[in-house]
Amino acid sequence: MENVDATFVGERLIIEETGAPLEKLRLEAFSPPQPAAGQVLVRMLAAPVNPADLNFIEGTYGVKPQLPATPGVEGCGVVELSDAADYQPGDRVIFLRRAATWASHTLVAADALFKLPSAIDPLQAAMLKVNPATAWRLLHGFGKPEAGAWIVQNAGNSAVGRCVIQLARQLGIRTLSLVRRPELLEELQLLGGDVVLVDDEAGLVAAKAALGGATAALAFNAVGGDSALRLMNLLREGGTHITFGAMARRPLTVPNGLLIFRDIQLRGLWVTRWIEHAPDAEVRAVYADLAARVAAGSLVQPVDSTHPLAAFPAALARLTAADRAGKVLFAP
Ligand SMILES: NC(=O)c1ccc[n+]([C@@H]2O[C@H](COP(=O)([O-])OP(=O)(O)OC[C@H]3O[C@@H](n4cnc5c(N)ncnc54)[C@H](OP(=O)(O)O)[C@@H]3O)[C@@H](O)[C@H]2O)c1
Repeated sequence: MENVDATFVGERLIIEETGAPLEKLRLEAFSPPQPAAGQVLVRMLAAPVNPADLNFIEGTYGVKPQLPATPGVEGCGVVELSDAADYQPGDRVIFLRRAATWASHTLVAADALFKLPSAIDPLQAAMLKVNPATAWRLLHGFGKPEAGAWIVQNAGNSAVGRCVIQLARQLGIRTLSLVRRPELLEELQLLGGDVVLVDDEAGLVAAKAALGGATAALAFNAVGGDSALRLMNLLREGGTHITFGAMARRPLTVPNGLLIFRDIQLRGLWVTRWIEHAPDAEVRAVYADLAARVAAGSLVQPVDSTHPLAAFPAALARLTAADRAGKVLFAP
């Protein structure tokens, strides 16, 4: 194994305490460490900014930062140095566990890595771990709907929502998606959404009409509040309502009748828990399937913009821009 050049200086974003991302993030220079036995040093190609990253910095995520911390739930990189038999310099990889990806380099245990097909686009690969797998688990982890059955979801334009639309179409499952911005209706139908409607009370009435008396096997909730309730009203008797996000930061209110007379099932999903607890072979088989779809161009997440690490204020500003059209990524 080669050694890290002692004069080489990398860079990374760090937080020393939790709080508002723009106030707490700062860029620092560091010397990428030498891998110990079983470790790999990865040079980062790209890492997205996900809602979970912001929650991590704010201290409101399911995993609390051990401070000081470099954020970054996921990303794609190239092996630079390896002291693990299965990985060679030049291999393209993603990280199945948190890996401090908002950096030029990150040091990880080899068993946390997943090797990518060589033809895969690095920006798409950087977004493979979280949202495609979440969509996959939503569609498979709660009793896979039969072909032709309906699922309903809110935040249809989110990265997860778009992955659900594409995967469900490939699996023969029909999707009804609610979105908060009417200008997205046509775009999501072109992506493969069977029905796409605005997420309001008129949209609920239109959704019932579009289903024509059918009801949904599963409901995927990334918003909460009234939007989550609209999804409950579209579920079949005994259908499952899965909360995996809380973009509106509003709790669920569940009418008694939906539990008593319709027996709807309320569940939650955290893809991190699945990665940690499912058998490793199952997790890797799902990522192999998803990576093949991404490499073939049949599972795509739009990219809004890429930024160097030093331009993190500009990257954060894009997140709330009215014209944001996809994921914001760091590309060191
Ligand atoms: N539990 C898990 O394992 C897991 C895994 C992945 C993601 N998630 C969660 O899933 C959600 C979506 O993640 P993502 O990466 O796909 O998000 P994203 O691509 O950044 O998109 C965010 C979505 O939320 C919508 N939105 C933003 N603020 C909203 C509000 N106040 N009310 C209603 N909708 C709002 C946006 O609407 P517009 O389209 O109109 O901008 C957009 O569709 C997040 O809550 C994330 O934390 C959870």
